[in-house]
Amino acid sequence: MTKNLNEIPWDDFYKLTHAEKAPYLIDNARPMHVLFAQQFDRQQLDSLGSLATGVRFIAKSEEGMAFLRGLLAHKRAMLYFSQPSTRTFLSFYAACEILGLGIGEVRDTATSSEFKGESREDSVRTFSSYFDLIIMRSEIGGLSERVAWVLSNTDRPVPIINAGSGKDQHPTQALLDIYTLQRSFEERGGIDGKTIVFVGDLARGRTVRSLSSLLTRYNNVKQYFVAPAQLQIGEDVLAMLKAAGVQYEVSDSFEKVIPEADAVYMTRVQDEWDTQKGESGKIDTSKYCFTVQHLDLLKPDAVIMHPFPRRNEISPDVDRDSRAVYWRQMRNGMWIRAALIAAIFDRDDQIRNYYSKNI
Ligand code: NCD
Repeated sequence: MTKNLNEIPWDDFYKLTHAEKAPYLIDNARPMHVLFAQQFDRQQLDSLGSLATGVRFIAKSEEGMAFLRGLLAHKRAMLYFSQPSTRTFLSFYAACEILGLGIGEVRDTATSSEFKGESREDSVRTFSSYFDLIIMRSEIGGLSERVAWVLSNTDRPVPIINAGSGKDQHPTQALLDIYTLQRSFEERGGIDGKTIVFVGDLARGRTVRSLSSLLTRYNNVKQYFVAPAQLQIGEDVLAMLKAAGVQYEVSDSFEKVIPEADAVYMTRVQDEWDTQKGESGKIDTSKYCFTVQHLDLLKPDAVIMHPFPRRNEISPDVDRDSRAVYWRQMRNGMWIRAALIAAIFDRDDQIRNYYSKNI
């Protein structure tokens, strides 16, 4: 049942669980704001995945691209990224272009009125005067929730998409990761029953937190968390998995776990969050890197993923192996983000109709 963000005070909304917040983020059964991974259920994940496949197929032809470009040519999106980004920024940019949206951007708050002391909330409210969608990345956890609430209490409640917030959430990365897993396991019964191994900085990697919670939407998925003790996954994630009845294991032994994996999800050390500069550099992460030798331990039909950017966690020599899907994963981000935006603006049926007539 849809609930309205303008019917609940901020302090009350903020305290709710993700499950309790989710009904506030939909509008007539379609996503309005996209703030955290937990707002998506299995049916929505399946539906977004098939929509992304439709967009991907249609975009192959000139005629198809012209159709897609016409879908949202009357809308404009604002990309508000106050944290560094290459992939997420560009894939959203490309996704908007595919659907014909006009695009504006602020990437450096030193060039905006925030420099003059304007609050983020006022900045975003200003964007909503000129744009129909705000896609935002911020180092502040929970900021996109606050902004969504603020805008929903104005006369221009434009949708907010969280493109990465603090250490806590990266919902659209989780969607593209799920889409990549759906595609990788298409001929192997889908994601159900698979073993996913997360490796690296699990304490501060928001992509892992978001994907781990979306995997609970599938049956019998086992999750492994492999990291040095200082970078191990948070207790809150484990409590969430326990409550969902999900099988998981915490380990510091990468090589032992590799043969069990259907997907290995590598991550980099997130040292930008170090409280003391250089602190992470003292942690020995050498045993948490994927090398060509590890390819022999990996199942022949498993996949290696990474949200990128990478450092030394995956040797570039691994890229040539067909199980390395991280470059494909990146491109999937563009398709699933286009699908998501189309769904927000009620263009999914048109895409599905076009796809079914032209497939
Ligand atoms: C990730 C992020 O920003 O959280 N990058 C991305 O969006 N693909 C991962 C990272 O920065 O390590």
